[in-house]
Amino acid sequence: MQFAERIDNAITQAIRQGQHPPSPGKLASALHYAVTPGGARIRPTILMSVAAACGDDRPALADAAAAALELIHCASLVHDDLPAFDDADVRRGKPSVHRAFGEPLAVLVGDSLIIMAFDVLARAAGDDAARALQLIRVLSNRTGMPNGICAGQGWESEDEVDLSAYHAAKTGALFMAATQMGALAAGQDAEPWEELGARIGEAFQVADDLRDALYDEETLGKPVGQDDLHGRPNAVTEFGIDGAIARMRDILSGAISSIPKCPGEAHLAKMVNAQAEALTPLKWRAAQASRIPGE
Ligand code: IPE
Ligand code: IPE
Ligand code: MG
Ligand code: MG
Repeated sequence: MQFAERIDNAITQAIRQGQHPPSPGKLASALHYAVTPGGARIRPTILMSVAAACGDDRPALADAAAAALELIHCASLVHDDLPAFDDADVRRGKPSVHRAFGEPLAVLVGDSLIIMAFDVLARAAGDDAARALQLIRVLSNRTGMPNGICAGQGWESEDEVDLSAYHAAKTGALFMAATQMGALAAGQDAEPWEELGARIGEAFQVADDLRDALYDEETLGKPVGQDDLHGRPNAVTEFGIDGAIARMRDILSGAISSIPKCPGEAHLAKMVNAQAEALTPLKWRAAQASRIPGE
């Protein structure tokens, strides 16, 4: 089975568990709405790629880890769009959860998805209790304080923001979780995989800042110009468009050299290269292609 299918099945199964009777109907629908159709599912795909590169000897654990990670990511988006944070009306090309279901249900969807993520990992203990426990530790570390998404979002309430600490926690954390959980699910040590996740995460956030500056809402399926609107520090205001692209490519080339020794090393390097291409905005690629050499 392809990664995308495994990820989808695992997420669908988890959401179904949360919708069993006697669940309140609107919250049950909102749960489904928040995760389907998914976005790019980049984090669970990286997780699966690392697990495969490490041998993927317990696929059920990798499936659970991938679903748990994506559920946390979806929860973070639901909360991020709330009026208390970015006040965004659109997500993945449709009304954000609070716009479709109201704020109380959006808060509860985020909360339920977070709890569900850890429940999925606890259930996976039946396959390998020691590994499941390690997965729970990594995911909680990358979700809460002081290193996780909560810390990242918390930086937005500080008077002075350190751009790299902010990005590392807001976005990098779940990419570090992706590489480390992929390795753990396949019975490998998590520590050597932290740098790869950190680098992909940093490049991803720079790419997201570029998209925010270069594209429109229709193309992205979410509001643009948000960083400027909320006065948030971002890579484009700090380095300019060309500078941000150069930075992103530089970070990703370092990512390839940080891949730990493993049976699927060469394949994983290809995946990172493909990500580098996918993350480079098409608009910028087209502008480069039409530039007169030497200008
Ligand atoms: C958006 O993440 C939030 C950021 C960390 C920049 P994605 O771009 O991965 O969102 P989806 O899941 O594909 O919608
Ligand atoms: C979202 O960051 C990251 C988290 C939810 C932790 P942003 O607010 O920059 O991302 P988008 O632009 O809404 O996807
Ligand atoms: Mg935000
Ligand atoms: Mg946002």
